[in-house]
Amino acid sequence: AMVMMRYHAANRDPKQFENPNEFQVDRKNARTHLAFGKGIHMCVGNMLSRKEMTVSFQQFAKRLDNIRIQEGAKLNYPPNMMLRGLANLPILFDKK
Ligand code: HEM
Repeated sequence: AMVMMRYHAANRDPKQFENPNEFQVDRKNARTHLAFGKGIHMCVGNMLSRKEMTVSFQQFAKRLDNIRIQEGAKLNYPPNMMLRGLANLPILFDKK
């Protein structure tokens, strides 16, 4: 039978990650996540994506202060078989 991997569900498996719905960047087993897949079909763009995210967050931290999600913002996760992502993320910030 054909099997469809649900990576985003695996990343929220409470048997693997304690309090899986909490954003904790310092989890000891953070590197065992499956956001980029695993095995021979693991994402070939994973290193580029990690570098882009590192540079982006460094720039955010340099330029913006007090970053927060807009109060009452409706967060919309469009249905997607592969990835769970927001349609948009309204934020507020103070300029540094
Ligand atoms: C945060 C950004 C990204 C995420 C979360 C992501 C996620 C994934 C996942 C989960 C897979 C595995 C799919 C499977 O098991 O069949 C995959 C495969 C793949 N990704 Fe990404 N990806 C990202 C960015 C990129 C970028 C920037 C590129 C290209 C520059 C890329 C190119 C590919 C390719 C070519 C495959 C197929 C690899 C294969 O089947 O052997 N991805 N990606």
